[in-house]
Amino acid sequence: MPSQVAEQLHVDLGARGYDIAIGPGLIGRAGAEITSLPNAPNRVVVVTDHHVAELHLAPLERSLSDAGLAFDAFVVPAGEASKSFASFEKLCEALLTAGLERKTWLIALGGGVVGDLTGFAAAVLLRGLDFVQIPTSLLAQVDSSVGGKTGINSAHGKNLVGAFHQPRLVLADSGALATLPRRELLAGYAEIVKCGALGDAAFFAWLEEHGAHVVEGDAKAQIRAVATSCKTKAAIVAADERERGRRALLNLGHTFGHALEAETGYSSALLHGEAVAIGMVMAFDLSVRLGYCRPEEADRLRRHLAAVGLATDLSDLPQVDWNAERLLGHMRKDKKVSDGRLTFILARSLGEAFVTQEVPESEVLALLQDVIAASALARRAIG
Ligand code: GLY
Repeated sequence: MPSQVAEQLHVDLGARGYDIAIGPGLIGRAGAEITSLPNAPNRVVVVTDHHVAELHLAPLERSLSDAGLAFDAFVVPAGEASKSFASFEKLCEALLTAGLERKTWLIALGGGVVGDLTGFAAAVLLRGLDFVQIPTSLLAQVDSSVGGKTGINSAHGKNLVGAFHQPRLVLADSGALATLPRRELLAGYAEIVKCGALGDAAFFAWLEEHGAHVVEGDAKAQIRAVATSCKTKAAIVAADERERGRRALLNLGHTFGHALEAETGYSSALLHGEAVAIGMVMAFDLSVRLGYCRPEEADRLRRHLAAVGLATDLSDLPQVDWNAERLLGHMRKDKKVSDGRLTFILARSLGEAFVTQEVPESEVLALLQDVIAASALARRAIG
């Protein structure tokens, strides 16, 4: 393990397996890391966004050049709009114009949008190029850069066009987290809590003690939290790469969360991680209502998320005219629907989640109605 790599994990997918390195200074070592891999490329093309380019492209290019790698870089606009069909087409044509060969690798330098977009381009260009993920947001480091889900959005919903395409390497540079706005860091932290809540009670307890350090920028705590989350994710992906079963656990909080995001137009009014935090609370509340889980567990989750500064209830968000039927309508369009039934990730306790399609829609509707009524009451009390 190179000295600057604090943690190194392996995603065990046989010939498609790959390492995840976590630690400071990895962007500046990317060239050396890539050229040390079997069948290394002789040329790479970096895809990043305007914002990340300003912060991290120059050191990455220096490291590629020091390692003797020829490279190009394409900078896309920051934000979800870059995951449209139109932007994807533009990127693919630009990459093809620049000249690609099967031995050219792509590098995704950025957050979830850049990772999903670049990974999908790598999956389809020349019927498949190798690519490297260099996630710079906390959310991308703990979730989207690992596991090979790539894709873009359609008018019908988010990530509906995509492919499973595993990267050859993930380099999670902990130094990049220091440049993140607090709100984005917090939103990424929700996915870390998710990893504890779905399958690792001891990690959840560690987060209760050290989560504040993670969001306050303590590098050691951040590396431990990212590594533990990636370990959970790597084990799940190795067991169920294509989400035929267990991988769905990683969607804890997402059925509700995606509905909230859809209702707020996938805008900056509600970041994905923020929606997942509220969605997890709803999933635990639903678990309590259905008798799977003790109310103390849901309270503990709510308390921890609130303690680090995440919203846990609709009343914590800027006012939206929430409507239970409409939220349920968004859920019905989710790609996790199977045989017309909604899939939920529920919990028996913190650290023990399970996947079910046995939740009556009437229970979901009742929960949403109660949550919306409670948020209206809370607002009136504040107002
Ligand atoms: N973000 C969920 C998954 O990768 O399966």
